[in-house]
Amino acid sequence: MLNNIESLKNEILALQASTEAQVEELRIKYLSKKGAISQLMNDFRNVPADQKRELGVKLNELKTLATETINNLKAAAQAKEASDSAAALDLTRTAAPLPMGSRHPLNIVRNEIVDIFSRLGFSLAEGPEIEDDWHVFGSMNFPADHPARDMQDTFFIQRNPADVLLRTHTSSVQARVMEHTKPPIRVVCPGRVYRNEAISARAHCFFHQVEALYVDRNVSFADLKQALLFFAREMFGPETQIRLRPSYFPFTEPSAEMDISCNICGGKGCAFCKHTGWVEILGCGMVDPAVLEACGIDSTVYTGYALGMGIERITNLKYRVNDLRLFSENDVRFLDEFVSAR
Ligand code: DAH
Repeated sequence: MLNNIESLKNEILALQASTEAQVEELRIKYLSKKGAISQLMNDFRNVPADQKRELGVKLNELKTLATETINNLKAAAQAKEASDSAAALDLTRTAAPLPMGSRHPLNIVRNEIVDIFSRLGFSLAEGPEIEDDWHVFGSMNFPADHPARDMQDTFFIQRNPADVLLRTHTSSVQARVMEHTKPPIRVVCPGRVYRNEAISARAHCFFHQVEALYVDRNVSFADLKQALLFFAREMFGPETQIRLRPSYFPFTEPSAEMDISCNICGGKGCAFCKHTGWVEILGCGMVDPAVLEACGIDSTVYTGYALGMGIERITNLKYRVNDLRLFSENDVRFLDEFVSAR
């Protein structure tokens, strides 16, 4: 037995392996249940009692030696395999492209509108989406029994005593700015608004608007018209024509709606403009003196104009998106179409 131990020891000291698979073969050969060392352990039972002590120590030493040797060979083989595969890496290969996100089309158009007005000297103003009755309706000269205050049109969060609601238009931001700012005031107010509508291709329970407000001494309807023409041409191209039709809003007097020459057929008439050559894009007017007074501005000294438009409407015209629901579904196939747009 002693001879066997000695010869196995020499064998183990000389072991070599270059792959993990080879190391595994060695482990099976020496250390598995049926391996050479286990075999010796079995034979050990038959060793005469007076030799047990000496042989037992030797046998244990052999087992430790085999375990350590094989572990070392395994670590070396793993390190070698790792460095071989690192050498196979081609560091000059171009990197895999990172998938690029895109801006939402409504954000692209919102930024463009704000940008155009900022070139006319307007600065950005924003207000809360959860509003009170006063800022959405009261200050904007809506009579107490106006149908917009009806639950059918407005989402109320809390009714009496204080009405808390989701704003139905960005005109509420006008009131907030006028309350706290002395004229001259020149602000552009983009934001999300909510109305109690059934969702369809043409209506949604939330959408987006941009409001613009200019209050100063001697602001006239001619100033409004000039700003509108500038906006329309910046947004839809230098050939764009505008047309103002008389209209009514509680917060402006006189009021108008603005059409632009249809940018799809160039004004010749097509299905989009219902063969009129014109498409409506916004509401506007001179701020009603009652609104100025309600917000603490002296209407005998100051006048102002205001305008408001739906961002979805402008986006539809620019990008021909015909179903409003696409804007809130977040379908990546739709959003991906705007990757190159800014
Ligand atoms: N608030 C109006 C709406 O929600 C849009 C609007 C029209 C805003 C005329 C204005 C304006 O400031 O002067 O339909």
